[in-house]
Amino acid sequence: MTTLIVTNRDGETREIEPIIGRTLMEVLRDNDYDELQAICGGNCSCATCHVYVSGAGAGTLPPISEDEDELLGSSSHRTDESRLSCQVKVTPDLNGMHVRIAPED
Ligand code: FES
Repeated sequence: MTTLIVTNRDGETREIEPIIGRTLMEVLRDNDYDELQAICGGNCSCATCHVYVSGAGAGTLPPISEDEDELLGSSSHRTDESRLSCQVKVTPDLNGMHVRIAPED
């Protein structure tokens, strides 16, 4: 079983069981995190799916692409833990990863 630990903008944390193979953005939307707007629908062109990833699993993520890096650069809330959740494919390797939804830009 793969579990992700998700913290919303109000600081509430719960565990979710993602469907493997979906993007992290889709998984968050599946689990009613509507504060994650994902306006462009996962086309890597809006940055409204910004999250922070840490803990177990985060180290197994593939590196940030040039496009993702450029878009994240437009956020005033970017940190070393920043990712665009639509660019993260959920795999069993992410088990235990902590995902925090970034503040709105
Ligand atoms: S949903 Fe727009 S960049 Fe991720």
